[in-house]
Amino acid sequence: MARLAFIGGTGPEGTGLAIRFAKSGHAIYIGSRSEERAAETVAKIHEASPGADLYGGPNLDGALKADFVFVTVPASAHAELLKELEEAIADKIVVDTVVPMSFEGDDGPVAAMPEAGSAAEEAASLLPNAKVVSAFHHLDAKQLQRIDRPMQGDVIVCGDDKAAKQKVMALVDEINYVRALDGGALKNSRFTEQLTVLLVHINKIYQAHTGIRVTGV
Ligand SMILES: NC(=O)c1ccc[n+]([C@@H]2O[C@H](COP(=O)([O-])OP(=O)(O)OC[C@H]3O[C@@H](n4cnc5c(N)ncnc54)[C@H](OP(=O)(O)O)[C@@H]3O)[C@@H](O)[C@H]2O)c1
Repeated sequence: MARLAFIGGTGPEGTGLAIRFAKSGHAIYIGSRSEERAAETVAKIHEASPGADLYGGPNLDGALKADFVFVTVPASAHAELLKELEEAIADKIVVDTVVPMSFEGDDGPVAAMPEAGSAAEEAASLLPNAKVVSAFHHLDAKQLQRIDRPMQGDVIVCGDDKAAKQKVMALVDEINYVRALDGGALKNSRFTEQLTVLLVHINKIYQAHTGIRVTGV
């Protein structure tokens, strides 16, 4: 079993993924800027997965101790936080889930891609020693948290380090009914990140929590 840290794990995305991976027996660390919020989230996950191996505390401690460092913060916090954590993360596997988007007027979100091309590529440029893999953009956080219900959908995983990508794909496949698909190089993350913006629009139109399923493979 691996040690998984969630940077910004108190939000819906980090909490949802942590709940699912606590169920499969991994040691989970919830990172936060606040010890209190981390403790509250640990208690919530404990309720969903009694007996799970759970810890919480500062983001830095999670980045130091984990085998997999999940980045589950808003895009606005992404670059600054990664700069702060670079030394602690070192050459670990970083799983970037971040979707850069902004809300302008009543028309819903628009993609707001960083100069690097995508959040994942930004992470790779800020963490030159880490093995950055991008994944989980198309699993809805609310659904992830509903452990009583099976999660559905494909998770497209992009990364340049093949061994790290395989390890992340193996984690994805631990979630019942969810399938990992190899999306190729890290630079393809710009497509997976932007697709989420479209899903948010579809969610709004249909009042739904959508995901994706790729056919023919
Ligand atoms: N929600 C979804 O369905 C979904 C699906 C796919 C991907 N994602 C991506 O996953 C990421 C997290 O989503 P979310 O909905 O969980 O986000 P969120 O609730 O807005 O933020 C997650 C956590 O990030 C921390 N945070 C916020 N601002 C910060 C700052 N300036 N500096 C450091 N930490 C900060 C907060 O934790 P503390 O206050 O405890 O430090 C917060 O609880 C996003 O990038 C999103 O695009 C979300």
